[in-house]
Order: sequence, then structure tokens, then C-alpha cells
Amino acid sequence: MMRSKILVTREVFDETLDYLAQHCEVESNQQDLSFTAVALAQRLADKDAVMCCLTDRIDGALLERSTRLKVVANIAVGYNNIDVAACTARGVMATNTPGVLDDSTADLAWALMLATARRLTEVESYIRAGEWTGWRLKQWLGVDVHHATLGIIGMGRIGQVIAKRAAGFDMKVLYCNRKPVAREIEQRLNATYVTRDELLAQSDFVILQVPYSAQTHHLIGAAELKMMKPTAILINSTRGGVVDDAALIAALKGGTIRGAGLDVFENEPKLDPGFLELRNVVLAPHIGSSTEATRRAMAMTAAQNLIAGLTGRTPPNLLNPEARKQ
Ligand code: GLV
Repeated sequence: MMRSKILVTREVFDETLDYLAQHCEVESNQQDLSFTAVALAQRLADKDAVMCCLTDRIDGALLERSTRLKVVANIAVGYNNIDVAACTARGVMATNTPGVLDDSTADLAWALMLATARRLTEVESYIRAGEWTGWRLKQWLGVDVHHATLGIIGMGRIGQVIAKRAAGFDMKVLYCNRKPVAREIEQRLNATYVTRDELLAQSDFVILQVPYSAQTHHLIGAAELKMMKPTAILINSTRGGVVDDAALIAALKGGTIRGAGLDVFENEPKLDPGFLELRNVVLAPHIGSSTEATRRAMAMTAAQNLIAGLTGRTPPNLLNPEARKQ
């Protein structure tokens, strides 16, 4: 029997490749070069499945040319890099990696929140620059996280894990979502459903945890930033594009809000240079899920989804069950 051929678009772990190689013929890109759209199309021409990342655009034009393709397995929970409707139309299964990264991503959102509140990156640069001459009462005053109000926009799996951690900090938790979560979840998390405007007006920390889509593009722009308290801190640990970066830079410069902790940006990795001039931001290079254990689990989850799809089983994290009926 002919073995299926697959492409792994970026560097993964040895155990991921070993597992894939047990089942199919693997072409992998362990040099980790980012393929251009043309190079990706060329490599996919004879492939039955692809394991890809959020840096790969899987759109209608590419699918049109990839006539053998049956499975697109993303190594990420977010899948705005994939045109799922176009996959479905061609009977291509698309999968993501939910669940395994919830806790790590929530931890990073918290790290950004604490770091921004207590100005950790600013003070670290100050120490490294040799400028610390002694303790002073009014030096580097930050704001408290404990007992503050946390507003979470997007109360899915990751939003809920972020909320859970807030109990240890005695925070009041507000949230908004397309619809309220089940009552027992609200009660367990001690979280109150409010409108987005109420959340923006009342929160000391606003964390964004909605997936990126046409509906959430620039969910936070100049008008929303104006609704926030001038003392508030914004955390974006989800996707670039949910925030209007130019508006955020203007708000941080003008004192509309106090600060921001950002793991994601529009046009990554070419972030707006305006961010680099600001002291009241903590910047991270899209590392929300990046712990050794979690990245290994994500790669293996994607590999298992891919092999399930190729061997006639339903992938555990299938995004478009309709594709199987095509
Ligand atoms: C990372 O950004 C992911 O969506 O998993």
C-alpha cells in the first residue's frame, strides 16, 4: 500500500516526527524557514496532509492547488490562518489544538498583568543600566493586582482559567462573552456577566481572550480605550488585530490608560515601532503557550489529529465535521 505523504511546515520535536513517520512519509522543514505562499503550494502539490502553524496561510487559492490534501492540522488553538469554509467546501478536514495550552496561556496573561502592574521590565532595564543608587519610598510605584477588578473579554476555556487564578488575588471578576457561561461556572469562578461597556468602564485590568475574526477585528480601538479608566491596564494575550495597535499607542502616550501587556501584535513580527518608544508597555513575542511541556503537547496533539484524519478516523479536534461528509 502506498504510504500517505505529509508536510510539516515548521520545526517540531523529535517525538512528533517519530510518531508521524510511523504512519506516513514525512517531508519536514527542520531548518524552520518560513515558506512563501508559492513554496508552500509547490510542496503541498503531492501531499495528503499538512501540519502547519499560525505563520502559514492556508487559504482558498492554496487549497485549490493542493488537490490531494485531506487534512490541515494546525499546531495552535487559534486558526484564523486557515480558511475553514474553503477547507469544508473541498472536503479537507481542519484541526486545532485546544485544551493542552489553556493553563500555560493563562499563566502568561497573568505574567503580563503582574509585570505591567509592577513595572518589572522597566525596573529591570534600570538595574541593568547600573542606575540604581539606593532605596527610596516613592520609587517605581506600581498598582495593586490584589483586590482590583479584572475584566475578561472572551470567557472560553482560556478566559475561564484566567478567572480561576483571580481568586488567589482576591479580585472581583467581570466578564463579557457572546453569551453568558453556565451558572455553575459563573458561581465557581465568582464571575459576573456584564456588557462590554460596563466591563471597560469598571475594570482595573482588561484581558482580551476572544479568538480573532472579522467580528473581533479592532474590538478595542480609540473609542473603547477612552471608556477605560485612566489607571487601567490592558492585556492582549490572544491575537494581534483584536486591538487597533495605532490607537493603543496613542492611548498609552496620551495617558488615556496606564499601561499594556502585549504578547501579540498586528503584523507580527514587524510590530509598530511606536511600542518600542513607550515605557508603560511590557512586550512579549507571541509566547503565550511556549513552555516546553505545552509546546510538545501541542505538536503531538496536532500529529494525532493529522494521523486520525488520514487513517479514516474522526480527528479529536476536528473544526469542520461537515468536511467528512463531502
Ligand atoms: C497560539 O497563538 C495559538 O493559537 O495556539
